[in-house]
Amino acid sequence: MTTPDLKRLLSTMQASEVSFAAGCRLFGRHFALASRLLNRRTSLAMRDVLVSLALIGMVLTAPVMAAEKVELSIDASKTGAKIDRNIFGQFAEHLGHGVYDGIWVGPDSTIPNTRGIRNDVVAALKSIQVPNVRWPGGCFADEYHWRNGIGAQRTVTLNPNWGGVIEPNTFGTYEYMDFLNQIGADAYLSVNVGSGTPQEAAEWMEYLTTAQPTTLAKERATNGHPAPYKVAYLGIGNESWDCGGNMTPDYYLSQMKIYSHFVRNFNPAQQDRQQMLKIAVGPGGDGPRWTEWTETVMKAYQQHTWSWDINGLSMHSYTVVKWPPSYASVGFGETEYGQILKSTLEMDGLIRKHSAIMDQYDPDKKVALVVDEWGGWYAPLPGSNPGFLAQQNSIRDAILAALNLNIFARHADRVRMANIAQMINVLQAMILTDKEKMVLTPTYYVFKMYLPFQDATFVPLTLNAGQYTHGNITLPRVDAIAAKDTTGKLWLEITNLDPNEPVDIEASLAGITAKSAAGETLTAPEVDSVNTFDAPNVVAPKPVSARVQGGKLILKLEPKSVTVVSVEQ
Ligand code: AHR
Repeated sequence: MTTPDLKRLLSTMQASEVSFAAGCRLFGRHFALASRLLNRRTSLAMRDVLVSLALIGMVLTAPVMAAEKVELSIDASKTGAKIDRNIFGQFAEHLGHGVYDGIWVGPDSTIPNTRGIRNDVVAALKSIQVPNVRWPGGCFADEYHWRNGIGAQRTVTLNPNWGGVIEPNTFGTYEYMDFLNQIGADAYLSVNVGSGTPQEAAEWMEYLTTAQPTTLAKERATNGHPAPYKVAYLGIGNESWDCGGNMTPDYYLSQMKIYSHFVRNFNPAQQDRQQMLKIAVGPGGDGPRWTEWTETVMKAYQQHTWSWDINGLSMHSYTVVKWPPSYASVGFGETEYGQILKSTLEMDGLIRKHSAIMDQYDPDKKVALVVDEWGGWYAPLPGSNPGFLAQQNSIRDAILAALNLNIFARHADRVRMANIAQMINVLQAMILTDKEKMVLTPTYYVFKMYLPFQDATFVPLTLNAGQYTHGNITLPRVDAIAAKDTTGKLWLEITNLDPNEPVDIEASLAGITAKSAAGETLTAPEVDSVNTFDAPNVVAPKPVSARVQGGKLILKLEPKSVTVVSVEQ
């Protein structure tokens, strides 16, 4: 049996969807199986028998393979909701090396910096047009006292949540605002509802936003910023059901109303337009505890009076499979690859569940569902402080990010903001640093490739995704979204979850006179391939060959890949 013979045989087996490589692998599997069954040293004649057995096995399996065919069609004349650019938001907590070393090195550092903020990190973040940064936590925010982080003399405190280390407070309000200004992002402040008071939070907002010459405004000017700051988003608490004070939904609700009323934004530019949006604590899962939380807050919202309001409900959901986080972030195999991706796809059901409750009390969708903590949470890197949540970032994380961003885009009418956890050196980070060294992660590249989807208009598509199966894990083989950017250009993202097989795409295009297509793809040699300081380009985007022929977009997706293409008319 020669290779051309096998190729011809394959092509007559109505398995046009089966790639030649897949066919060879399938043949090999059946050959090995038949060989094992006979369990003998094989003569040449016997080999013919084995080949026949293997081919019979392939014929029997062919319908299964045929079911894996991926079909995609897009009608560009149909449009949906705007994909709010805020779904590409970031989260920076005082945790491990997230802020200190990751952003802040201090003005006296030998690492190139502007007023203490790393220049390399700023340049990288500017390139992905970060819309907003949630700060200072997380659980850290639940016991953060802002006065410790202003002025010439900073109060040195502790960080009991994250390793019990010293918190120098050298990165405080001024530094955060300076950092936002350097990268061009909006402020998303999370105020202390746990150990703080409404008065403390109200004074922080007055300090930040008033243009009047109050004592706090003068203090702000003395500390280097006479003009009022803009605070776009205010998080009223963080995980108030857990590290934020273990409150009942009703107790939180009464606190939230007080904060919503008294923690005012005085910035003159934010009174009529560009008003600060207030985000209440929402659910952290899908069980009755969480549906009760959403129900309590949203039911109250429906009855809300002039004295309080919210514009968003936060939701936290990590891809962890089970607590405590035990999956390795590097050095894993196909099983862990599949398990993590299966787990991450649960985000869709979670959003549906809480959106359905929100729809009951807010059918006009005035309150956004804000997924302000999401991402993969794995075991701490060996040798690292377990309280620092340090992990590597692989092509699996790139695919995880793409799947979640696609889920958010499909729910764009309700999910209008999201913040991946966390921006630098912590959990599913964009960037890893080690002293003067910096490396961009596969997740960073996904955020970069998705730039055209910021504020684009969702275009619904029809997808027969096929299946990828490994052991008892079955996943869609492909995931995809389409959108029109602000100039009207059509963009597609297509993820191939299958880590072994390429996928041939022949997408039907309607509602558009397509002429050509171009794009980029992100893939890697292994399921756990990562970028390191020594090998920073193992997982980096490269051009993909895509074309338009007969009204169809034609391209081949590499195994375990994220691909973004634009269609030119
Ligand atoms: O992102 C790490 C932690 O996870 C945050 O501080 C907390 O809000 C969540 O539990």
